[in-house]
Amino acid sequence: MKVAVLGAAGGIGQALSLLLKTQLPAGSALSLYDVAPVVPGVAVDLSHIPTDVKVQGYGKDDLADALKGADIVLIPAGVPRKPGMDRSDLFNINAGIVKNLVEAVADNCPEACIGVITNPVNTTVAIAAEALKAKGVYNKNKLFGVTTLDVIRAETFVANLKDLNPANVHVPVIGGHSGTTILPLLSQVEGVEFSDEEIESLTHRIQNAGTEVVEAKAGGGSATLSMGQAAARFCLSLVAAMRGENVVEYTYVETNSDDARFFSHPVRLGKDGVEEILPYGKLSDFEEKAKNDMLEGLRGDIKMGEDFVNG
Ligand SMILES: NC(=O)c1ccc[n+]([C@@H]2O[C@H](COP(=O)([O-])OP(=O)(O)OC[C@H]3O[C@@H](n4cnc5c(N)ncnc54)[C@H](O)[C@@H]3O)[C@@H](O)[C@H]2O)c1
Repeated sequence: MKVAVLGAAGGIGQALSLLLKTQLPAGSALSLYDVAPVVPGVAVDLSHIPTDVKVQGYGKDDLADALKGADIVLIPAGVPRKPGMDRSDLFNINAGIVKNLVEAVADNCPEACIGVITNPVNTTVAIAAEALKAKGVYNKNKLFGVTTLDVIRAETFVANLKDLNPANVHVPVIGGHSGTTILPLLSQVEGVEFSDEEIESLTHRIQNAGTEVVEAKAGGGSATLSMGQAAARFCLSLVAAMRGENVVEYTYVETNSDDARFFSHPVRLGKDGVEEILPYGKLSDFEEKAKNDMLEGLRGDIKMGEDFVNG
């Protein structure tokens, strides 16, 4: 199993690479690419950790070599938010970065599964899809927007509120990955009852949790450590699925539903990426209204990505 991390020298990239170095199955390879000159050093640093995962760093002119033979490509390359910024404010810089990187994936490892972390995810996934399509290699079963951070945040906040062990709490989160497009399905959390006030405040907190971090870091970036954990969980689930295990994760994929072209669903993963997009089940009245209110915005985010590539 070869995993490539593009943007590996950044806040997310380094945390993610550390977790993958210690948790990928023995015999795996980890390929670290970044335009920042520190990336070979990050690779050397990680290579001193005694696990059977080979780490190699690649500088800005070596993208093709970084990607050759990759089974999974994770993309956290790009700029993060500063206080006062919305994820859509990142579009101008990050759209081009994601497009270029995905075109290189198309040229060098067209069969790889791609996990897009770079924000705005609602839009960058559409950019990736259209860029792959233009190269004639788009496979909708192999392109994912990584929304796992919304799931782990939701699980943590519910566990804290109800004094439960977060390891035993499972919260579905559907939709997209910004503001109100993030839709936690608290009505489906097993064994927990919420008041209407709790549902409203928890939903709001989960939707704005990224901003909590951005403000607390006061100009020093957005979530990197929790995001590293979230992306590692997603990647390790994909690796397990590719090795034959039955795994379901919530992730932003192309669907055939009426909601939007891309939408986070529970997805059964398999050796070729998406094996089955599972229904998200029955929504409460509160969730149904929240979904209907945000769909237009999400569709607009997606269209912006499609237009970026197709002109
Ligand atoms: N999906 C999510 O839930 C989620 C959560 C948090 C952050 N993010 C997003 O992830 C991205 C990265 O965040 P971060 O905190 O790690 O930022 P960062 O600035 O710490 O790191 C980004 C890295 O990308 C590199 N980079 C820039 N252009 C590149 C290119 N063309 N090729 C390769 N590498 C390139 C930079 O050199 C840097 O090392 C941001 O867009 C952020 O908004 C997503």
